[in-house]
Amino acid sequence: MSNQTTPRLTIARPDDWHVHLRDGDILRAVLPYTAKSFARAIVMPNLQSPVTTTEKAKSYRDEIIAATPAGIKFTPLMTVYLTDTTNSEDVIKGHARGVLTAAKLYPANATTNSIYGVTHIKAISQVLEAMQGAGMPLLVHGEVTDPDVDIFDREAVFIDKILRPMRKDFPELKIVFEHITTQEAVDYVREEGAKAPLAATITPHHLLINRNAMFQGGIRPHYYCLPVAKREKHREVLVKAATSGAGMFFLGTDTAPHTRTAKESACGCAGIFSAPNALALYAQVFDEAGCLPHLEAFASRNGPAFYDLPVNKELITLEKIDQPQGDIKPILTGNGQQIVEFAPPSPSTWRIATS
Ligand code: NCD
Ligand code: ZN
Repeated sequence: MSNQTTPRLTIARPDDWHVHLRDGDILRAVLPYTAKSFARAIVMPNLQSPVTTTEKAKSYRDEIIAATPAGIKFTPLMTVYLTDTTNSEDVIKGHARGVLTAAKLYPANATTNSIYGVTHIKAISQVLEAMQGAGMPLLVHGEVTDPDVDIFDREAVFIDKILRPMRKDFPELKIVFEHITTQEAVDYVREEGAKAPLAATITPHHLLINRNAMFQGGIRPHYYCLPVAKREKHREVLVKAATSGAGMFFLGTDTAPHTRTAKESACGCAGIFSAPNALALYAQVFDEAGCLPHLEAFASRNGPAFYDLPVNKELITLEKIDQPQGDIKPILTGNGQQIVEFAPPSPSTWRIATS
């Protein structure tokens, strides 16, 4: 950090270890925002027609590259969507060929476009065994789907019912517990991640809002995502974990664009679109916690270390602003649909510096 009036922070260019870029018009509208802040991103495979094979991942990657704005260096890291009938050979070959970086486990019906997800872990034992052998990471949406389990408990129950037994069967399997939201998840990852290949991503919105945000004066669909935001005490634990700089926690925005009409509906979609302001909001959280020196570990170093990738050589500078950012305008897709950006509870006090 340099001069006192405008604090600035220069860090290695970060990566986003969890994004939903969608396809078609939405992809073209949202991709420039992710590519502006992040050098690489782990691209989630939950398209309406999910990315279930290496071939599909390859053509999706081509579509993303074609949609990347000219002059911007951005590398999409592809994932494959696991189903009960995934072919382990295809997954391992896709990884060996450098097409697939990881595989994503959606428990069937856990979230957006997860109907083809895994119905029981036994169905993918062979795939997990092969991934463990190949050192290929498994990315986990960690919520049980049993309707009898309260929605606010689904992550904690997942740890005991699914994750612990799975890790017992596959102790060397590299696992990222995606978008964690609870004290239980933080405690589990902190303890286990110190001795085994287990890490977690944390989103900007789970660092900034608790579950009250969804009901502030009425129903607020743009604060609805999965896993759903939890109580304030969980948010506070997440902030401590993220800002600690500990290697098992890293940046994953889970930016998840849906059109305004799909969000503002009698049955609105889960997902928060944070790509435009995510990096600035992380800086704000770290600043408020007095932990700015740990931002680079969380945003730019811990992820590559887990994925065995080099840290980006380019740098990015963030600066604190005197006048918080004003109203956020929705972005528009090519066919005129609006996508509403995440509005933090208080306006952002950081931004990416232009020079
Ligand atoms: C994501 C989406 O819309 O694809 N939604 C969300 O609320 N996070 C899916 C997911 O990551 O659960
Ligand atoms: Zn997601």
